[in-house]
Amino acid sequence: MNAIEALVTRKSVARLTEPAPGSEDLEIMMKAAIRAPDHCRLRPWRFLVVEGAAREKLGEIFMEALKLRDPEAGDPLLQKEKNKPLRAPMVIVVIAKVEEHPKVPAVEQILSAGAAAQNMMLAAHALGYGGIWRSGKPCFDPNVKRALGAREVDQIVGFLYLGTAERPPILSDESPDEYVEMWNG
Ligand SMILES: Cc1cc2nc3c(=O)[nH]c(=O)nc-3n(C[C@H](O)[C@H](O)[C@H](O)COP(=O)(O)O)c2cc1C
Repeated sequence: MNAIEALVTRKSVARLTEPAPGSEDLEIMMKAAIRAPDHCRLRPWRFLVVEGAAREKLGEIFMEALKLRDPEAGDPLLQKEKNKPLRAPMVIVVIAKVEEHPKVPAVEQILSAGAAAQNMMLAAHALGYGGIWRSGKPCFDPNVKRALGAREVDQIVGFLYLGTAERPPILSDESPDEYVEMWNG
């Protein structure tokens, strides 16, 4: 698939199954990720690849964090939280590592990590995989961050769920026109 085709046909896929990207494809996705634009070359990102049984450990982290956020949460909610990472054979956690910098504010570093995440998603799509970028409360939960080795200042920009689409997604033919204007001052 060429680059333009990948860009204009990407669509999120929530129902994912095996196979997940293999090691060669994963390497291509990571190479694409680190091509993201990055002001002052801070490389403000960390990617945690979570597969197999490790997804259960991630689910435990989600569940324990929910217990602390909401001590009233009952078993069904806790189980649901625990099972979230099992919705795909692979989950990649994208973390923005935010540093104090005289020229590069935190928002730019988070944008760079977001661009890396999207490069990864597009590469996965071009390689024939499906995926969906998810966030939710775990993204912003200090206990989840700590358990994943991120600091308070860092930002989890997303949990990228990856695998193979159970069925091909249907593309809408939305036009960009309503978002675009030629600005002449
Ligand atoms: C930063 C970010 C966080 C997101 N978090 C979630 C999420 O937690 N759950 C979800 O269903 N979709 C989430 N989405 C939206 C999906 O990734 C996806 O864009 C949406 O389902 C629309 O599908 P499309 O990408 O094919 O247009 C998020 C998107 C972004 C950019």
